[in-house]
Amino acid sequence: MTSPEARRRHDQLAESIRHHEHAYYVLGRPEVSDFEFDRLEQELRELEARHPELITPDSPTQRVGGGPVEGFQPVRHGIPMMSLDNTYSPEEVRAFLIRVQKRVPDAALEWTVEPKVDGLSISLRYEEGRLACGATRGDGTTGDDVTANLRTLRSLPLRLASRDVPRILEVRGEVYLPLSGFRRLNVEREAAGEEAFANPRNAAAGSLKQLDPRITASRPLAVVTYGVGAAKDGDLPATQTGLLDWLRDLGLPVPGIVEVARTPDDVLNAIASLDQRRARFDYETDGAVVKLNDLALRELLGATAKAPRWAMAYKYPAAQAETRLRAISIQVGRTGALTPVAELEPVLLAGSTVSRATLHNEDDLRRKDTRIGDHVVIEKAGEVIPAVVRVIPERRSGAEVPFEFPKACPECGTPAVRDATGNGSGTGVVWRCPNPDCPARIRGRIEHWCSRGAMDIEGIGEVMAAQLVGAGLVRDVADLYRLKREELLGLERMGEKSADNALRGIDGSKERDLWRLLFGLGILHLGQGGAKALARAFPDLESIEQAGLEQLTAVDDIGDTIAGSIVQWFSDPVHRDLIRRLQRAGLNLQSAIYRPVDAPTAGPFSGKTLVLTGTLPTLTREQATEAIEAMGGRVASSVSRKTDYVLAGDDPGSKLEKARKLGITVLTEDEFQRLRNDPSPPLAERQSSADH
Ligand code: IVH
Repeated sequence: MTSPEARRRHDQLAESIRHHEHAYYVLGRPEVSDFEFDRLEQELRELEARHPELITPDSPTQRVGGGPVEGFQPVRHGIPMMSLDNTYSPEEVRAFLIRVQKRVPDAALEWTVEPKVDGLSISLRYEEGRLACGATRGDGTTGDDVTANLRTLRSLPLRLASRDVPRILEVRGEVYLPLSGFRRLNVEREAAGEEAFANPRNAAAGSLKQLDPRITASRPLAVVTYGVGAAKDGDLPATQTGLLDWLRDLGLPVPGIVEVARTPDDVLNAIASLDQRRARFDYETDGAVVKLNDLALRELLGATAKAPRWAMAYKYPAAQAETRLRAISIQVGRTGALTPVAELEPVLLAGSTVSRATLHNEDDLRRKDTRIGDHVVIEKAGEVIPAVVRVIPERRSGAEVPFEFPKACPECGTPAVRDATGNGSGTGVVWRCPNPDCPARIRGRIEHWCSRGAMDIEGIGEVMAAQLVGAGLVRDVADLYRLKREELLGLERMGEKSADNALRGIDGSKERDLWRLLFGLGILHLGQGGAKALARAFPDLESIEQAGLEQLTAVDDIGDTIAGSIVQWFSDPVHRDLIRRLQRAGLNLQSAIYRPVDAPTAGPFSGKTLVLTGTLPTLTREQATEAIEAMGGRVASSVSRKTDYVLAGDDPGSKLEKARKLGITVLTEDEFQRLRNDPSPPLAERQSSADH
């Protein structure tokens, strides 16, 4: 490679890596897999090895990781959080094992092989057995203080199970989103018109780096611990396996699977066996971590500037395949977002045939210089939707055609607008079709209204929604309620049975509770949880329509963004008219779950707000909620000045502390059960005198 060429490639690679570092470390939204990212870094390192004159102090190879994000306090780790050397090659693992053995020729080495959990590394500082601080890795030396957020993780003990631990103990581990929780979260986000997370790691990062711990609390994050950083005044076990047992005994979650191996063959077998089993874990693993079991030997080996010499990560390659990009189509969502989709020559990838993959957004298309007819590499890593990760310019024939991102909506021709608020995540630019009457958007709205989580109209799915809109029978959800049997029967391939089924479903939906209707309207940012909160706080739709920002934000679980979006929605005359038509069609606009503060159900908790925290000895959360509601109370998710009582069980977490700070009366389950059976003496007399 000649020098100007090398320089150009260097600049390209550096640019690309910086972009991905920003997306990954700062925004928590990677656009390529680790595998692809590592490939870029590797190419840059090799290029710089051949052309050292290209190395600049700001080259991505000259730094490790990113800095703390704004808004969190910086925390200096007692012992730096290093990264791991990693490889995709079993031979390099073998070479590593032999290298270590050479440094300690007389030792009979023992290795542990653990899953590499694909989450966010964290350091948990326990002082005298109590969680004092939790921090992200940051640049390895200084991270972000995310204690308030970490405290919301139910699996993380606030106090260790034994006091016989070092006075200061930094436990190292990973915060992740279990796959089940990840899927659920994405369903909710999509339903609320918010962009789905690309993978569980993104979702975990986005959830942990929330300035508002209540948002973190609503995400089902989990934690696993696998190591120790600084430890002062106290002893540690002598081996990794001993350490994991010890951490587990202290109440900390540890990896479920840890293999011990002696020979290099055993280590490689353990890695392969983990690969076999990892599909069944409830978390995503991107590799296996091989560690020297003996902690004293680790000391002896030490570390390089970046990583310890006693450990290595083997990364499982993401499934990739090469195919040809036939065309690029544009998908129009319910909110008008235009998403480019790759139409591919079908190719087998990780056990299924893939003919479509996401191209993310316009920026991404440009950066990769994607052209129609290009040979492309597509990838599917774990839970990631298949994506085009790069094009193969060497395979171009010259007949490839650059793609012009449409300036108008492909469905209705309305000029697209750049959404300044983007997709809510900061990466990429979102173009939206601003036309509320766009057929694609109407289809999306009808589908959403009929979906199981909203009005639950069984007879109408994606296909029928498209038919109804296509035939001009339905332009908004109110039109559904005027449909006639003959009209339906006039549709192509529509049998009597299907028509009757749809009509029955539509008719039945008139009785649905208000929260379903609210959610079904598709107000931006208003998810199911928010819709239920509104339906509990307001008796009917009219009072929500008339409520101002202040009244709306006074409702637990309704923040400024949702409240603003609701007010804006109702200020549109088209929407107000839609509501009137729904009303005339006979839809229920009253809330059955409304719990008025002024005229509460009679009972010991009449008009009171309770918050549950911790595990109760006998009642589940659902049973406790039911009991409270039956006694006239309501259950909120977070403690505030509006809270009257906190019902606390074991491992109560930060809610209990907050309650104490605010002087809110705390009940045990025992006390609660007594009140349930014998509502006297009145609760008011038991309430603490603290001002809240
Ligand atoms: S041990 C000196 N064990 O992988 C670093 N790390 O690529 C010792 N990770 O930053 C780390 N699972 O966030 C270790 N079982 C495991 C792990 C693990 C995931 C992460 C960790 C680390 C990164 C390095």
